Amino acid sequence: MENSKDKKKSLFIKSYGCQMNEYDSERMLEILEPFNYSSVAGPEDADLIILNTCHIREKAAEKIYSELGRIKKIYRTKKRDTKIAVAGCVGQAEGQEIINRSPIVDLVFGPLTYHQLPEMLENINTEKGLPNKKLVNIDVPDVDKFNEMKGSRKSLRSISSLLSIQEGCDKFCSFCVVPYTRGVEISRPANQIMKEASELIEAGAKELILLGQNVNAWNGRVSGNKNWSFPNLIRELSKLDIARIRYITSHPRDMTDELMRSHQDVEKLQPYLHLPIQSGSNKVLKEMNRGYTFGEYMRIIDKTRVYRPDIAISGDFIVGFPGETDKDFNDTLKIVKEVKYAHAYSFKYSSRPGTPASLMENHIEENVKSERLKILQDLIKEQTRDFNKSFVGKEIDVLIDKPGKGENRMSGRSAYLQSVHMDGGASMIGKILKVKVTKSRDNSLEGIAS
Ligand code: 5AD
Ligand code: SF4
Repeated sequence: MENSKDKKKSLFIKSYGCQMNEYDSERMLEILEPFNYSSVAGPEDADLIILNTCHIREKAAEKIYSELGRIKKIYRTKKRDTKIAVAGCVGQAEGQEIINRSPIVDLVFGPLTYHQLPEMLENINTEKGLPNKKLVNIDVPDVDKFNEMKGSRKSLRSISSLLSIQEGCDKFCSFCVVPYTRGVEISRPANQIMKEASELIEAGAKELILLGQNVNAWNGRVSGNKNWSFPNLIRELSKLDIARIRYITSHPRDMTDELMRSHQDVEKLQPYLHLPIQSGSNKVLKEMNRGYTFGEYMRIIDKTRVYRPDIAISGDFIVGFPGETDKDFNDTLKIVKEVKYAHAYSFKYSSRPGTPASLMENHIEENVKSERLKILQDLIKEQTRDFNKSFVGKEIDVLIDKPGKGENRMSGRSAYLQSVHMDGGASMIGKILKVKVTKSRDNSLEGIAS
């Protein structure tokens, strides 16, 4: 079969969207490595192209069709036997429609079935001369895909290694497609996570980034009836030979006191909390079905800061949700000023097919959304700049994770997730060094490593 182990094959995977997709792409590569695939940097010479897509906003989804257009040009003139796959949330949401719109696509699958990649590839491969077979696999299997997954986690992809611990979402925020594309909320079993963490550490990981759409909703069966809470899991992971632990993304509704306290008690847990509020208006939060008020959100922030005063807060915001008034938007600006974010993402509301918000009345004009986004982003930028500025002259711990841009330049992350750049050499990679901050920029720090 085409998957035979003797013929070398090249694989180009492009990830869009969140870190969950990045993680899935790493796993896809690992599944295919035993079949003699190795990754290449561009689509030009690839035997297999996988676009691992994001459906969260219309723009993200449309990007895939432009990319497919570009690939079509290469595909026509170069390797006719290149297989093209669309994976991820657009695959899950649009299925056959993708092949209808872009017939060069051979295979469509979603985040829940990628463990079946070798079989799927075998199914679309045909004898020379026969027309291409197409396959759409967007089932929701009732097996644990992580148990089924072949491939080793033992080659180091990054000093800061991603580890997905929870998938899917049951929160059904009215604007969001995730519950429909990633399925119901599931927590991976604790023993599976501990094993994967050990493999990543053995490969050389110094930092674990625990991932989940609602990572702090994780709870896992350990053995018998014994359950671990998410802070339990963090504590157990911190006993391994790892320098740093982070988690992303959390939901305010699952922010327990125990988790907040972990930022004080567990030294390896980094002082960084990504806690999206989406809007500062209680009316909008209710319409979004977020399940908390702005006051409740503020109490979480205040309390976490009691446990860990230096914690960097990050968040997500949506502007221009249906019915959002100037007053609602001002409430969002008010909460940004009150929290003082170290960093935050903000987006214009994007109407997504199948979501309750897409059916609401009072959709906001595009130009109003753009104006609001600009105002919000300017404010957040100012806060990030101030946050970064406050480090100038200080000595901080930086985990050096990769070469920087330019000769003899290195780059790493502070405990607060800021990018820190400095002069240095490859021997620094994987170490936590003391760095004296000499300069701050909008989105990074410059320093001298000692
Ligand atoms: N429109 C705009 N932003 C969205 N997000 C999720 N769905 C939408 C949407 N329909 C944003 C939220 C979420 C982040 C991952 O993407 O802020 O936290
Ligand atoms: Fe989407 Fe809301 Fe679930 Fe986050 S909590 S993934 S925004 S439905």
